Amino acid sequence: MPAPPETVVSRLRAAGCVFAEDEARLLVSAARTPAELSAMVERRAEGLPLEHVLGWAEFCGLRVAVDPGVFVPRRRTEFLVGQALARAPRRSVVLDLCCGSGALGLALAAALHDTQPDGTELHAADIEPAAVRCARRNLGAVGHVYEGDLFDPLPGTLKGRVDVLLANVPYVPTGEVPLLPAEARAHEPQVALDGGADGLEVLRRVAGEAPQWLARGGHLLFETSERQVPLATGILADAGLDAEIARSDELYATVVIGTLAVRTS
Ligand SMILES: C[S@@+](CC[C@H](N)C(=O)[O-])C[C@H]1O[C@@H](n2cnc3c(N)ncnc32)[C@H](O)[C@@H]1O
Repeated sequence: MPAPPETVVSRLRAAGCVFAEDEARLLVSAARTPAELSAMVERRAEGLPLEHVLGWAEFCGLRVAVDPGVFVPRRRTEFLVGQALARAPRRSVVLDLCCGSGALGLALAAALHDTQPDGTELHAADIEPAAVRCARRNLGAVGHVYEGDLFDPLPGTLKGRVDVLLANVPYVPTGEVPLLPAEARAHEPQVALDGGADGLEVLRRVAGEAPQWLARGGHLLFETSERQVPLATGILADAGLDAEIARSDELYATVVIGTLAVRTS
């Protein structure tokens, strides 16, 4: 790819973009006209997340559409998808709860399709209408997307059948939301970030209901901060799920996995 114009790089650099050259390259390749390029550069310089300016994010090697007001999938969450892939049985039934753009479900279904082309059933849900619209666009015919509070909008026929429950729920404690980068605070909805007093309130509700929806041996996977791990494993124990922790130093990610025992004693 040719070097981006120095004017674009210096405008982005002056606005505080750390990876100004890389961002400039992406903006140049996305803009169809010089006028569009300068409008995109200005939106970025004003603090709009790069992914919202471009209209897509790269996630697990895929280009995932991300509309304004929709949570931008984070690179560290690729680790959660990898953990899910390692545990998914053949012909998995996958539920991506709190799906945002639908990136996690899309990436897992794509990876499963490569290794097990005989079929994955994918369902996704979110409470935010903008996220639901975006997920519907990303998942297209690959999955069903529902709008509503956690499990409420899901068809009852899914109960007891979910092999992999992806739940990248909001987990920032309310008091720490003001400490998040301005890009997130200003351009991602509060409901996508705020996990309540200790950051685990949405997770408590998900874990409490998960055993009704999981198949025997099925897994619930979610991200936490390292500090939240003891509380999160306690929540899983209360829900009757066996807990396991996976960590990636490279991606600075902590994933907690709750498994519904194959048999109960
Ligand atoms: C941290 S974002 C994660 C989005 C997506 N899973 C990802 O990783 O890119 C959390 C998402 O949970 C959704 N959400 C928050 N509370 C919810 C609820 N009670 N029911 C359904 N979705 C909810 C938000 O709208 C947001 O899209």
